[in-house]
Amino acid sequence: MTAVDWEKLRTVAQDAMSRAYAPYSGYPVGVAALVDDGRIVSGCNVENASYGLGLCAECGLVSELQNSGGGRLTHFTCVDGKGDVLVPCGRCRQLLYEFGGPDLLLETPGGILPLSEMLPQAFGPDHLTK
Ligand code: THU
Repeated sequence: MTAVDWEKLRTVAQDAMSRAYAPYSGYPVGVAALVDDGRIVSGCNVENASYGLGLCAECGLVSELQNSGGGRLTHFTCVDGKGDVLVPCGRCRQLLYEFGGPDLLLETPGGILPLSEMLPQAFGPDHLTK
């Protein structure tokens, strides 16, 4: 297995961040992830005048994942407006869990961690079939 190019993934996330629509929070976010077939998907936050309707960057990412052929997320990174690594919010950890499961690797300010450490004892698709 070849080593994952986290720097490249971060560059894609930073590029997505540059296209964020965040006029209300002034806090642009970009995300990128590697898919198990080698694709890279990304997203940026898209806010709304009705504040609660704002979409996190991860919403765009999972939408692109599904709309470009599906698959499983294997590696994920998230950056803030300075391009620095950011932890995904709680709701978005759940979005990522759906498509990456507990073994999805996240780049965090505390190093590379599996999603199982960022969202312990997660509720997920398996609960609905057991
Ligand atoms: N935000 C994301 O896009 N993803 C996260 O994981 C953290 C928060 C966005 C939502 C909102 O547009 C802005 O950051 C400030 O909370």
